[in-house]
Amino acid sequence: MPRRADQDTFDAVDAFLEGTLFALPDPVLEAAQTDADDGGLPPIQVTAPQARLLAILCRTVGARRILEFGTLGGYSTIVMARTLPSDGLLTTLEYDPHHAEVAWANIERAGLADMVDLRVGAALETLPLLASEGCGPFDFVFIDADKENTPAYFAWALDRTRPGGLIFADNVVRGGSIADPGDDPAAHAQRAFHEYLAEEPRVSATTIQTVGAKGYDGFTLAVVV
Ligand code: SAH
Ligand code: DHB
Ligand code: MG
Repeated sequence: MPRRADQDTFDAVDAFLEGTLFALPDPVLEAAQTDADDGGLPPIQVTAPQARLLAILCRTVGARRILEFGTLGGYSTIVMARTLPSDGLLTTLEYDPHHAEVAWANIERAGLADMVDLRVGAALETLPLLASEGCGPFDFVFIDADKENTPAYFAWALDRTRPGGLIFADNVVRGGSIADPGDDPAAHAQRAFHEYLAEEPRVSATTIQTVGAKGYDGFTLAVVV
């Protein structure tokens, strides 16, 4: 029976998933979220189902080198880093020193400090340093920082992602603003991002619209061909 759904329905379905697929206690992840909330960080981390998708994708490509733009309190960082083999490395870039401090405590408590390289600063300023250090090539890239720079982060990451590797960009639909951007710079950046993707022969990319506890949004997933 098809029916119209609204945010109450999206919340109810995510609550159902929390109680089924995500019912097993995960004290480390729960503590990370509590400390992010107590630290005043904005509650904009991926939801549990979205985090599981990231982990599934990391496992699917056998990721040993992961790059993340936007650490926040380390929720997505922890979920992805847990998929790494013992010699794996996740590099995560965070602008806000307070977010980075909360995230690092969470990453340490998760026992992942040896596998995570957290760099504090504006990502566009950190990237030249990473390049000079010979970082990568990456197997999986998660772009989830300032949305205006998603195209720039993607272009930089593409040069350093191996064939068969995946690049995942979060929050590209933003309540439909990609179709009706008005004067929202982030929405215009997502439109430019898609125009660039359409012309970029090195990737096959798609964008999937999503609903859930975080509302109506969507992600772009690209494979390097
Ligand atoms: N990936 C996280 C959520 C990230 S929220 C999770 O799902 O758990 C976006 C983060 O990007 C915020 O912490 C914000 O401070 C950070 N950010 C904003 N501008 C940035 C920039 N220029 N460089 C790096 N990080 C940035
Ligand atoms: C915002 C950032 C995110 O990464 C997200 O998933 C939702 C919202 C934001 O900056 O508003
Ligand atoms: Mg996001």
